[in-house]
Amino acid sequence: MKSTPIDNQIVTEKIKASGLMSVGTSSIREIKKLVDEIEKATGEKFVRMEMGIPGLPPEKIGVEGQIEALKKGVAAKYPDIQGIPELKEGISQFVKLFMDIEVNPECCLPTVGSMQGSFASFLMLSRLYHHRDTTLFIDPGFPVHKQQHRVLGRKFESFDVYNYRGEKLREKLESYFKTGLIHSVLYSNPNNPSWICFTEDELKIIGELATKYNVIVMEDLAYFGMDFRKDYSKPGVPPYQPTVAHYTNNYILFISSSKVFSYAGERIGMMVISNHLYHTRFEDLLQYYPSSQFGYAMVFGTLYPLSSGTSHSAQYALAAMLKAAINGSFNIVESVRAYGKKAKVMKKLFTDNGFEIVYDTDIDQPIADGFYFTFSYPGMDAEALLNELVYYGISAISLLITGSERSEGIRACTSLIQPEQFGDLEARLKRFHADH
Ligand SMILES: Cc1ncc(COP(=O)(O)O)c(C=O)c1O
Repeated sequence: MKSTPIDNQIVTEKIKASGLMSVGTSSIREIKKLVDEIEKATGEKFVRMEMGIPGLPPEKIGVEGQIEALKKGVAAKYPDIQGIPELKEGISQFVKLFMDIEVNPECCLPTVGSMQGSFASFLMLSRLYHHRDTTLFIDPGFPVHKQQHRVLGRKFESFDVYNYRGEKLREKLESYFKTGLIHSVLYSNPNNPSWICFTEDELKIIGELATKYNVIVMEDLAYFGMDFRKDYSKPGVPPYQPTVAHYTNNYILFISSSKVFSYAGERIGMMVISNHLYHTRFEDLLQYYPSSQFGYAMVFGTLYPLSSGTSHSAQYALAAMLKAAINGSFNIVESVRAYGKKAKVMKKLFTDNGFEIVYDTDIDQPIADGFYFTFSYPGMDAEALLNELVYYGISAISLLITGSERSEGIRACTSLIQPEQFGDLEARLKRFHADH
């Protein structure tokens, strides 16, 4: 048995005992469990890049706001489903100052994580027109969104945007919209897993086509402000977080608080529905809801039966964080910039040792350093590479589960890696390169 940085025999035994067919095709949670067991058995710490969870403490302003609200007794009271007024007002001001868009507080809703926002939207959007039954995903993307479609029994189509950047995106998108079956389109920007960011031209293409074909755009801003090539941190001062909202009125934005505020545990996100869409009536909704008005049906017909609103105290936490961001006393980008700094070092360690970055540019610009990056090793597909990397104490996930067509690609998440581990990462990558 060959010698590897992590005891070869133990790794092989643990893989066998896990019952997994292959590490390379396993889900994020399966890989996490396997690596937990190998770490326990060997006493060795892995360079863990599989899970996209915040690696920073929660925003203090949020925690304090939440504790204060709990002490006042909000835990005993049902929150209004549409959200507490100070939060709705805060979201409306936040999107004005950080995105330069006008959305009435009425159309700004808290959700139980961005995850609930997408679930509720998928439910409703597939019921807007009886003859339109399909969501389009601009991939690569977040696998749970497809899982949400499966449990809802909803149809979706997807394509990997890798070969359709820039003007090529127009024809590709139009080919789907022309079928008349697409009710909505979803992408994340910056993108999980590839960290590509759409250019203004691309957002304009998406917006124009959405208006032309009356398709709703769901823009997932889980990594708000985290394209660190630009400084989106100053309220009311350009540049602003780019958004399709500048190019169409048919949009829903999902702004998660999990990453930008490191508030994943409290499960609170923002759903921002354009004023236009919120007030639009869709007659086919009457089959399921008491009102044909989109916003009304979302609040009282969808969010109500799902969870009857969002945690009362978490709403106060988010309201406090937004207030501080709006008045400039809290810099939303500074607190997460550490991810970009780590990505820069880690990407160099990979490329210095024979690896390549898979999604490497935004058309003519090198990709930003951020929460994720993608890599491959010449001559190996993702499954073989992941299977092998486990023996070198490195864990990550394959891009294949994200709708990517890059069968050689792997997603690395920078959040949990500490700078003290860079030495280990470098030594392991060197050894891998020498052995292959
Ligand atoms: C692209 C994307 N969308 C949504 C989410 C979920 O966000 P939340 O924690 O607010 O439910 C994530 C979390 O990793 C994500 O990466």
